[in-house]
Amino acid sequence: MPCKISLKNNASRIIVLLTVIIFFSSFKALGQASAVPDDPEIVAAGEKLFKQNCMPCHRVESKLVGPALHNVYERRELPWIYAFVKNSQKVIASGDEYANNLYEEYNKVQMTAFSSFTDDEILSIMAYIKNLTENPPQAAAPATSETVSAAGQEQAIPAKYLDAILIGAVVILIILLVVLVMISSLLSKYLRQKKDLSDTDKEYVQPMFNLGKLVRNKAFIGIVAALVTMIVLKNVIDGLYSIGVQQGYAPKQPIAFSHKIHAGDNKIDCNYCHTGVTKSKNANIPSPNICMNCHSSITKGPKTGKVEIAKIYKAVEDNKPIEWVRVHNLPDLAYFNHSQHVVVGKLACQTCHGPVEKMDVVRQYSLLTMGWCVNCHRKTPLQTKGNGYYDKLVELHKGKEPMKVVDNGGIDCAKCHY
Ligand code: HEC
Ligand code: HEC
Ligand code: HEC
Ligand code: HEC
Ligand code: HEC
Ligand code: HEC
Repeated sequence: MPCKISLKNNASRIIVLLTVIIFFSSFKALGQASAVPDDPEIVAAGEKLFKQNCMPCHRVESKLVGPALHNVYERRELPWIYAFVKNSQKVIASGDEYANNLYEEYNKVQMTAFSSFTDDEILSIMAYIKNLTENPPQAAAPATSETVSAAGQEQAIPAKYLDAILIGAVVILIILLVVLVMISSLLSKYLRQKKDLSDTDKEYVQPMFNLGKLVRNKAFIGIVAALVTMIVLKNVIDGLYSIGVQQGYAPKQPIAFSHKIHAGDNKIDCNYCHTGVTKSKNANIPSPNICMNCHSSITKGPKTGKVEIAKIYKAVEDNKPIEWVRVHNLPDLAYFNHSQHVVVGKLACQTCHGPVEKMDVVRQYSLLTMGWCVNCHRKTPLQTKGNGYYDKLVELHKGKEPMKVVDNGGIDCAKCHY
């Protein structure tokens, strides 16, 4: 017999069959994984696409609105992934069993259709996912907040706590004073009743000073009056300087929406909700429909959860916008454009809005005065690289220090005033 393994035996037939299946299936998975590139440039491109488009609903390592995506390039064939990402509803409608089961499992949440994506772009996202699957990240350090607080705009102790501490200290001092006065008058009363006091002792018991006399003293009245006027004056001047300045303004909102939970803990990109920042003058506040992309499946949260999320459902049912209270408000006479600063100027939101991803309630972080705008234009260099519009200006400016916004007319009145 040429072959040592007898295929007549049923048990050994099954073993051989299984080995073949396992061999081929691992081969297929391997083939699929190796079709996903490792090139760092492609991984970086994929990372950017993933963070901007998929991060709102997906994590690589865990479930969020959609499934965890680690290994997805081994779970599914690449052509299936391409089709699903471009238009998941089409794949579901085609009767694909896997897609339909997934859709049911995720409470019929519709994944956004990315019809403008090319296969290569989706492949680069898979490359990023593969890179993360194979090299799980160590706890990442929050970079933005560091640099932001380094700018020294945030006080170590917020002013309102300082006020509370001061008021507390004053109250304690007053109580102490009252108690001391009571003790001293009790003691002297007791001593005055004693008949057998020596003359020197009597001198001590007779009050060193008389409170009534003191209040009538002209010098004393003068000092007190001067102190009071100084305090009042300082408050009036402070008040005048801050007319119209609303730094720190953090109104209560109709829904306890937390940027910390959304942009911080769940790392949802600012652009996902503020869709206007890169395209227009205004950043836009998201409509309830955008909330529902996620909250049709997330019905409770870590803190205020259910009650607050129910308000979104109510707004959608009643077809009424949520009446968010505006935090930032420039007067009509000034013109400010987001995309100019975010896209052309390449400024991070945090430069002007502070560490929003750490705020449960958004507050106005910057002064928003004319001086604030102009100061930044004086010291901030223009991002001229790769911007054809600036080529001529840079040429003219050769040899001098880097061009600032001011060198491009950034402090001309008409640039900011209609
Ligand atoms: C609005 C939320 C949302 C966004 C944004 C989103 N997805 Fe999804 N994704 C889902 C949901 C929900 C599912 C589960 C299937 C369903 O309900 O249609 C899913 C499923 C998938 C699956 C199948 C997963 C599996 O386990 O088989 C892939 C692959 C996928 N998404 C890739 C992406 C990629 C890539 C992006 C970004 C370009 C993206 N998704 C953006 C919500 C989203
Ligand atoms: C891209 C997905 C996504 C979008 C869009 C989204 N949320 Fe959320 N939301 C979440 C996640 C994730 C949580 C946290 C759930 C948890 O941790 O259990 C959450 C939690 C909440 C909570 C509960 C917070 C708490 O303290 O318990 C509220 C309220 C909320 N969201 C309101 C909103 C509103 C209002 C909008 C629209 C302006 C919105 N969300 C849009 C994903 C989203
Ligand atoms: C899930 C949606 C969502 C995400 C993500 C999100 N925001 Fe918001 N943002 C809102 C909503 C809703 C409001 C209005 C309610 C409020 O002021 O809290 C708002 C308000 C603001 C305001 C105040 C607007 C005003 O009234 O003047 C600023 C500034 C802001 N967001 C910046 C950011 C920045 C920066 C990020 C990213 C770090 C971000 N947001 C991410 C939904 C979002
Ligand atoms: C150069 C400073 C600057 C940068 C950078 C900046 N903002 Fe603003 N933002 C402002 C000013 C000033 C206002 C007030 C505008 C007004 O009242 O007309 C504002 C207002 C807003 C508002 C209120 C709604 C609106 O459109 O007026 C939101 C939301 C907002 N910003 C989000 C963002 C997000 C998200 C980013 C980053 C992608 C960002 N901002 C980057 C200065 C900035
Ligand atoms: C953090 C720095 C910073 C702050 C604060 C800032 N800007 Fe700017 N601004 C820039 C930069 C950088 C550019 C240049 C963008 C470019 O290349 O066109 C710019 C450009 C502009 C332009 C276009 C100027 C031109 O030459 O075409 C206008 C208008 C403008 N800003 C208005 C404002 C107003 C109004 C405010 C205050 C409410 C403000 N900016 C606050 C950094 C800032
Ligand atoms: C970089 C943008 C910018 C430039 C350049 C600029 N301004 Fe302003 N200006 C503002 C902003 C923003 C305000 C509103 C500040 C506030 O509400 O505190 C303002 C307010 C003012 C006010 C006060 C109006 C009021 O009702 O209180 C006057 C007056 C004014 N600007 C005049 C000028 C003149 C004159 C120039 C040219 C020399 C100029 N501005 C250049 C941004 C600018």
